[in-house]
Amino acid sequence: MDKKVSELLNDQINKELYSAYLYLDMANFYSSKGLDGFANWYEIQAREEQDHAMLIYKYMHNNSQTVTLEAVAKPDKEFKSLMDPLAAAHIHEQYVTGLINAIYAAAQAVNDFRTVQFLDWFVKEQGEEEKNSADLITKMELFGDDAKALYMLNSELAGRTYSAPSLQL
Ligand code: FEO
Repeated sequence: MDKKVSELLNDQINKELYSAYLYLDMANFYSSKGLDGFANWYEIQAREEQDHAMLIYKYMHNNSQTVTLEAVAKPDKEFKSLMDPLAAAHIHEQYVTGLINAIYAAAQAVNDFRTVQFLDWFVKEQGEEEKNSADLITKMELFGDDAKALYMLNSELAGRTYSAPSLQL
């Protein structure tokens, strides 16, 4: 594998684990506010990010690449309002989309079509992640100021269940 592509994939493992940590921190925030449905949503989001890290980890090993695990940064976002984590999550997903696109472009530049094909799943996944995070902001804008509506939204988010990624390596 091309050295730069390998390094970017290795970095992405760390970025996905950081994402898991960030979402766990958001779950932690909502849990402390008594919104267990929002907390459930972000706990599941954290698990999905761990899955993303593991998919790249396995892909690296399947392609005889050395994986180097670096320190995972402390989540440093400060949440003051119920909207803050939702807004931060959306910005974070846009950032991750940029990272995935950069790996995709690097793989394409060296005709690494196997990695391009592997990353196709992540490109699609980022589309879903950005839509989900944007939808949550819209719902909070519409209903967040009304206690009963917020209760209903919390109940809706409590119903999210974890499912393993559709991509298996
Ligand atoms: Fe692994 Fe939410 O992107």
